[in-house]
Amino acid sequence: MQDTIQQLQQEIEAYDVTTAAGLDQFRIAYTGRKGRIADLFDQLKTVPAEDRRSVGQQLNALKQLAQDKFDQRRQQLEDEAAAQPADAGYDYTLPAVPGALGTRHPLSLTRDEIVRIFSRIGFNVAEGPEIEDDWHNFSALNFPENHPAREMQDTFFLPPAGGEEQNRLLRTHTSTVQVRLMQSQKPPIRSIMPGRVYRNEAISARAHMVFHQIEGLYIDENVSFADLKQTIYYFAQEFYGQDVKMRMRPSYFPFTEPSTEIDISCLICKGVGCNICKYTGWVEIMGAGMVDPNVLRACGIDPERYSGFAFGMGLERPTMLKYQIKDLRLFTQNDMRFLRQFEAIH
Ligand code: PHE
Repeated sequence: MQDTIQQLQQEIEAYDVTTAAGLDQFRIAYTGRKGRIADLFDQLKTVPAEDRRSVGQQLNALKQLAQDKFDQRRQQLEDEAAAQPADAGYDYTLPAVPGALGTRHPLSLTRDEIVRIFSRIGFNVAEGPEIEDDWHNFSALNFPENHPAREMQDTFFLPPAGGEEQNRLLRTHTSTVQVRLMQSQKPPIRSIMPGRVYRNEAISARAHMVFHQIEGLYIDENVSFADLKQTIYYFAQEFYGQDVKMRMRPSYFPFTEPSTEIDISCLICKGVGCNICKYTGWVEIMGAGMVDPNVLRACGIDPERYSGFAFGMGLERPTMLKYQIKDLRLFTQNDMRFLRQFEAIH
């Protein structure tokens, strides 16, 4: 105990305090209620009775020493501060350093806008994994084994993990999230599913092997094709403008029956014909259809009771149309000159 007292005494004498923060550290270490001196006072009761008096006196002296040092240094720091002009070290006439603002990626802007439009009519957002299996990407969606439609999707398969069959793949569409939703929820289901998808395609100004989709799913009793049409028309007007025209062409997807592809009148030439719409006056914006009863059944939903529609669209094309972006590769090059152009848009 006496050794410790001596050691502390030396420490305190040598301790150098030059700043307010240093003074605070000194207080916490020595004079504070949980400091080392308070600790020693706590231990006093373990000192044999005959020594207690003298050890107590030494401790009191130590405490006084620390307190004096603290008071004296505090006074000194206060005097120093008082001697300095209030704005020492600052030059208030210098121009401010501009803070660099981050920007939202144009694809995120489009996604957020589409999410807002659908949320106004009761759709919530659902997400799922990008690494999927054959069942969620194909089988549950009514792609028969060895069906050519599987090849249409140019799938990236992943190497089998530890003795597994080759089964894992990068999802080729966000329809996988439809499957997961129907498996985990009871109708009514009203969701949109944004996400990144992958297809083995050559990279060019118009195509990339990584791109984005937003898919929608609506399942309830008595959902009809008219509901699909009106929902998409509402979306097209909100996103592309009230005077947009829309048309539906018959199409084929394994997971919807009937299926349709939806075009809008070209925004650039207003239907007259330009190279964006390839002189047809129309631009395709999405695929859609009534969910095939086989898909409902595979996902555990009774097709006798429920029906529904689904739609899926890419995010890249509407973003390119909206901001007049001519090359899709700009989305992934992280060129600050490109990204900074979206600074003011929220
Ligand atoms: N999943 C389809 C695709 O990627 C799009 C789609 C979704 C079509 C839903 C119809 C219904 O091409």
